Amino acid sequence: MLRIVAHRFGAPADVLVCEPAPLLEPTPSGVVVRMRASAINPSDLVSVSGAYSFRIPLPFVPGFEGVGVIDAIGAEVSGLGIGRRVLPLGSAGGWQSCKALPAAWCMEVPDDLSDEQAATAYVNPLTARLMLRALAPSPGMLVAVNAANSAIGRILLRLLDAIKVRSLAIVRSKQAMELLADEPICNVILAGEVLPPLDGGFDAIGGDHGAAMAQAIRPGGALMHYGMLSGRPLPPGLGSVVKPLWLRNRVHAASRAELRAAMTEVFDDIRSGLAATTIEACYPLSAYRAALAHNAQASRRGKILFTPQL
Ligand SMILES: NC(=O)c1ccc[n+]([C@@H]2O[C@H](COP(=O)([O-])OP(=O)(O)OC[C@H]3O[C@@H](n4cnc5c(N)ncnc54)[C@H](OP(=O)(O)O)[C@@H]3O)[C@@H](O)[C@H]2O)c1
Repeated sequence: MLRIVAHRFGAPADVLVCEPAPLLEPTPSGVVVRMRASAINPSDLVSVSGAYSFRIPLPFVPGFEGVGVIDAIGAEVSGLGIGRRVLPLGSAGGWQSCKALPAAWCMEVPDDLSDEQAATAYVNPLTARLMLRALAPSPGMLVAVNAANSAIGRILLRLLDAIKVRSLAIVRSKQAMELLADEPICNVILAGEVLPPLDGGFDAIGGDHGAAMAQAIRPGGALMHYGMLSGRPLPPGLGSVVKPLWLRNRVHAASRAELRAAMTEVFDDIRSGLAATTIEACYPLSAYRAALAHNAQASRRGKILFTPQL
């Protein structure tokens, strides 16, 4: 049993260590999931930095999404069997050989999805679906997506195209433009260029860039704000055009039936390719330093996964 753990908050490369850990036992209503693959996402790294230290006790094992198989079951658990493949949702802890959690947070995974697609089925595909539902753009409208070369940016571009909404992809480099060559985009521009009037937008950046997007939205439209890649929040005073959406809040407020229905839709999106995620590389837990360095590369084309059983 290995785990990647933060004993203090700070820059991930400085504070994370990979160490042996005691074997986990399930609580009576819990399970232990042997992890097969876990993604590295910006939210994991932000959590290690200490942004949510008010609700994350130390030591902290990151990894909000991943897939594994049930290895041990508590005495009170019914409806789940040893060996069943599940997404262990609702908490961090994916970056270790095994994760213990309440059985109620296990989402069964259809057999036809690969481990790689299952490990990236939750954070970005579900957030993209929820945001699209909230924005509800009509065919022919123009909707901008910033950080469009990110994993979730690409999913949003495909979802918009599927409902015949025109997309404006915004990226910060010519290299990122080239990465979008295979995606369905009506137009692509560099960050900082003048924005046309927009019917809606998806902002993963915040700060001045997100504010400029908000100001380009026509009356009646909305800016779905869901990330702070710039490290800065949106400035105050933008008004009701800004609609924040944080997956964690939505999922913890949803019933299990609502979550299951939403994930069923997402699994379909993955099968159809709309929400498929490009995987760039897989690393064992012990190679976490190389994995984090790879994740930080500007030339990265897809997600980095930990595959603890390697
Ligand atoms: N609200 C929620 O619940 C929720 C859910 C899912 C995702 N998110 C957020 O969505 C964002 C993207 O996540 P992801 O998993 O898709 O990321 P990702 O695939 O790891 O890609 C992030 C990309 O964003 C680009 N980027 C980084 N900093 C930037 C900046 N300041 N300006 C413009 N582009 C920048 C980088 O590309 P280049 O270096 O090539 O420019 C990087 O490749 C993150 O902020 C994440 O937290 C939020």
